[in-house]
Amino acid sequence: MRVVLFTGKGGVGKTTTAAATAVHAARCGVKTLVVSADSAHSLADALGVRLGPQPTEVESGLFAQQVDPRARSDRSWREIQEYLVAALDDLGVDPLAADELTELPGADEVFSLLEVRDQVRHGPWDLIVVDCAPSAETLRLLAVPDVLTRYLQRLLPMDRRIARIVAVARRAGVSAPTGLPVPGDAVVEAAERFATELAGIQEVLRSPGTSVRLVLTAETVVLAETRRTWTALAMHGFAVDAVVANRLFDPESSDAWRQGWARSQAQVLAEAQASFAPIPVQRAGYTAAEPVGVDALAELGESLYGPARPEATAGLLAAPSVPDPFLVDRDAEAFVLRLPLPLADRHDLELGRRGDELVVTLEGRRRVLALPSALRRCEVAGAQLRDGVLSVRFEPDPAQWMSV
Ligand SMILES: Nc1ncnc2c1ncn2[C@@H]1O[C@H](COP(=O)(O)OP(=O)(O)OP(=O)(O)O)[C@@H](O)[C@H]1O
Ligand SMILES: [Mg+2]
Repeated sequence: MRVVLFTGKGGVGKTTTAAATAVHAARCGVKTLVVSADSAHSLADALGVRLGPQPTEVESGLFAQQVDPRARSDRSWREIQEYLVAALDDLGVDPLAADELTELPGADEVFSLLEVRDQVRHGPWDLIVVDCAPSAETLRLLAVPDVLTRYLQRLLPMDRRIARIVAVARRAGVSAPTGLPVPGDAVVEAAERFATELAGIQEVLRSPGTSVRLVLTAETVVLAETRRTWTALAMHGFAVDAVVANRLFDPESSDAWRQGWARSQAQVLAEAQASFAPIPVQRAGYTAAEPVGVDALAELGESLYGPARPEATAGLLAAPSVPDPFLVDRDAEAFVLRLPLPLADRHDLELGRRGDELVVTLEGRRRVLALPSALRRCEVAGAQLRDGVLSVRFEPDPAQWMSV
């Protein structure tokens, strides 16, 4: 199973190129599902069909689906939420406020990804194309399972969870609790189930068959944002296997205005190629009419990938060749942890050690890496950012070895 997520700055053509990729793949004979994880319903508009929360057949071999995150809302999470609301209610917090306090951050995105995970596990597809929300939201979305898993790990055991609720209630001006409900086994089980669901999402996102395509238009501002998105995706361990340059003007045009645009786009395109190398930059021209409907999308797909032929199938489904997101090498007496951070600037990077975790912060984004057991007894001896790869050296801590 191959999973491809499309993201990029707002309005650059994510939905259109995702849909064009799906139409193209289906016409090559690949059983394809295109899913929208964006709550704006533009996938249906691009395909020119009505879509529901279940996969709908658009044409032979092509299915599309608009996830309804609220309807997909997870049973395990609801049980946890009900407990939290009840606990806050006992503390005298207004039920409406309690509802808001227990709102899951990034809920819609998480539930959309749960649907993608289910389709990966149980669907008959060879390829799943995911049309994501604009980059900033997608990054949040892709980081949510990690963050939530850590929250859950912290909040379980339950005594700590209660401590947190009490803290929230105090902040809301509620007096100290008496007779707070102790979470029943059902709630603890629900929390464990939910943690397993999140782990399933992470598994799909980081599987070797999953990759992200970055869509851009050839404009300086768009390129700058796309470069940052690539760095952030790499930091979270997500593989980008292609960049799609969309809405390119024809340089052969006889019209001076279009020629001007084509020249400036060619410059930005050259910069994009230099930035993202060795990742290929695919090109799609500015179509004469809005590319809406399967036939128009098929044409756009052809301009991106060539003619739709069964022989193209292997290429479409080939596993992306991308560097391992997170590696530990042995280097004489030390271990070196390597994390790709393409295009990152050393001055924007901060590293911290917190118990068994390494905290990497880059321009306000953070990834917390649980250290492999071999590194936990080591001390950080140095770090270096070179050629887009962060290397952190870990040396055995003599004090720790003595106590073993
Ligand atoms: N290659 C193209 N040629 C001409 N028009 C295009 C092309 N690609 C996309 N468009 C048009 O540009 C508009 C925006 O495209 P689209 O909805 O795919 O962008 P998006 O990145 O998904 O936007 P959003 O950030 O809102 O999700 C649409 O009207 C679409 O039909
Ligand atoms: Mg869109």
